[in-house]
Amino acid sequence: MKKTALTLAAAILLAGCAAAEEKPENKTEQTETTAPAKTPAEEKTAGPVISASYFNQLKEVDGVQVIQNPENPLVLVNKEFALPSDYTPPDLVRPKVKYSFGDQDIEKSYMRKEAAAALEKMFQGAEGDGQYLFAVSGYRSYSRQQEILAAGAAASSEEEALKSIAPPGMSEHQSGLAMDISSESNGFELNQAFEATEEGKWLKEHAHEYGFILRYPKGKEDITRYIYEPWHFRYVGQEAAAVIYENDWTFEDYFEQAKPAE
Ligand code: DAL
Ligand code: ZN
Repeated sequence: MKKTALTLAAAILLAGCAAAEEKPENKTEQTETTAPAKTPAEEKTAGPVISASYFNQLKEVDGVQVIQNPENPLVLVNKEFALPSDYTPPDLVRPKVKYSFGDQDIEKSYMRKEAAAALEKMFQGAEGDGQYLFAVSGYRSYSRQQEILAAGAAASSEEEALKSIAPPGMSEHQSGLAMDISSESNGFELNQAFEATEEGKWLKEHAHEYGFILRYPKGKEDITRYIYEPWHFRYVGQEAAAVIYENDWTFEDYFEQAKPAE
């Protein structure tokens, strides 16, 4: 540590000398405006630089921040940013995976095309490791989310229900980029016990390799504003998923750190 500091001090002194020697005599001194080089620690926390198109474009409607570019594959949907109530993803397809409800061709089996292809690869990858995953709930329309929240509120209270069920417009399921996943060993249930199953553990460790993130992690409830959901996976693409996984970030943290490319 001490040696590094001394070496750095010596380097600064030497650099200073060199600059003084090279300065042409008949020129006025100019203020140095270049930012100092980043240390390795600063480099690591510098945050991802991503296309400006990946950031939410927002418009306030009746006090709600409504997303104007909902087709953005990195769309950040949460209790702060809502999808338009009439938004339906343009490219919903039915991934060829196993479902907890069998072969029924129903709304919740669908996902957006790119997410569906990644889901298929992830389920195949899991199978290669001897883990059998089952898709439980993917795309949900605004009105379906409304019904789910109403049912949850009737079973307990609205306040309680909102800890694990998004208000309509604020669910990632409406984006077509999320899938709830379970296993036969967990009785195809979506609950916190899934965390302890082999399939749940596999997903936690490998989902990012396929472009998915565990969207509502344990211990991050204050940031996500939802309980820990070891079953809910959100497609964000491999690049963002790797950064989020390696830094142990939530998707909210990712956008806190990200900067738009010039
Ligand atoms: N369970 C998640 C938060 C949703 O309802 O979208
Ligand atoms: Zn979910």
